[in-house]
Amino acid sequence: MVTSSTASSTLTFLPCLDARLPTLPDGTPPAYPPPPAAVGDFSVRDQAARAARYDPLALVKRGKPVEAPAPVRDGMSATSGRLAIVGLGPGDPAYLCERARPALAEAEVVIAYAPYCDRVSALLPGIPVEPWPIGAEAERAADAAARARAGGSVAVVSSGDPGVYGMAGLCLEALYELGWDGRSDPEVEIVPGVTAALAAASRLGAPLAVDFACLSLSDLLVPWELIERRLEAIGAGDLAVALYNPRSRARPHALERALAVLRRHRDPTTPAALVHDACRPGERVEICELDGLRAEEASMDTLVVIGCSSTRRLGRHLVTLRPRRSREGGS
Ligand SMILES: C[S@@+](CC[C@H](N)C(=O)[O-])C[C@H]1O[C@@H](n2cnc3c(N)ncnc32)[C@H](O)[C@@H]1O
Repeated sequence: MVTSSTASSTLTFLPCLDARLPTLPDGTPPAYPPPPAAVGDFSVRDQAARAARYDPLALVKRGKPVEAPAPVRDGMSATSGRLAIVGLGPGDPAYLCERARPALAEAEVVIAYAPYCDRVSALLPGIPVEPWPIGAEAERAADAAARARAGGSVAVVSSGDPGVYGMAGLCLEALYELGWDGRSDPEVEIVPGVTAALAAASRLGAPLAVDFACLSLSDLLVPWELIERRLEAIGAGDLAVALYNPRSRARPHALERALAVLRRHRDPTTPAALVHDACRPGERVEICELDGLRAEEASMDTLVVIGCSSTRRLGRHLVTLRPRRSREGGS
C-alpha cells in the first residue's frame, strides 16, 4: 500500500495495479515493451512539448502555498503528479459516489466532455473545468496523462463508471504510451460511478440479477463483425444483456441489427426494455417483449435491456430468476 500525505490530506492507495503486475523471481518488475510512437493525433514528441510548457509550479492548489518537495518514497514525492479519473454516475448527483467530490476538489483542473462541465461546476462551484469536444476522447486522455506526468494534479470525468466504456482505460493507456509503469509519477486514482446498466436495471427491478453481459453497439473502435460474434455468444449463452450505445445518427441501424441476432436465440416474448436517461431528469422507461421492441425509439441516451429465458415481467418490474428456480416453475 502507498500512502501519500500532503498538508491538507492523506491519500491511501490500495495496491490494485501494483498487485497485478508480475515480477521476476528476483522481485524486479519485467521490462515492458516500448510504447508505440504515437497516441491518436498526439505524437509523443507533441506530448513532451506540451508537458514542458506545463509549469508544475503554476499548479498551486487554489489559494494554497506551494509546499517544499517531500523526500522521495516508493518512487513518488508528495509533489508528484496526480491523475484522478472520476465517475459522475448516471446524472442525478444523488447517485454520485461520496469520494467523487473530494477527488475532484484535489485537482487544479478538471478535464471534461463539454456537456458534463455544468455537472462538475454544480458540484464544485469555481473549480476550473476545461471543456473538450465529443470524439476527442483519446486526445483528452493523452493531454491529461501528459499534464499529470509533468507534475500537474488533473482530474478527468466520465459519465457513469469511468471503467465502463469511459475514460479510465484511455487514460491508463495514454500513461502507458508515455512510459509510465504504474510505480512512478503520477499517482492515479479511479473513482467508480454507477454505470448505466445498473442505473437502468434499478429502474426495472432486477433484470440483471444473475449472470449478464454488457455490450456496446458502437463500431467506432470495435469492428461490427466482432460485435455480432459477441451477440451470438450472448444469445447462445442465454445471458440477459445490457446494450450500450444502441443507436446514433451515424449508426441508425445498429440496434435493429443486434436485435436480429438475439431474436435468432430468444423467444419472441422475452421481456425487454428501453430505459432513457436513467436516474436523471427526463427519465423514461419502456417495457416490451423482444419482438415488439422498437429500435427507432432508442438514442444515445438509452440503455437497452434484453432478458434471457428466466426473465419474467411482473407488472412494471422485470426480474431474472435464478435458472434453477425457473426450471422448478416449469417454464
Ligand atoms: C460511451 S457510453 C458511457 C458509459 C458510461 N461510462 C457508464 O458507465 O454508464 C454511453 C452510453 O451509455 C449509456 N448511458 C449512459 N448514461 C445513461 C443513462 N443515464 N441512461 C441511459 N443510458 C445511459 C447509453 O447507452 C450511452 O449511449
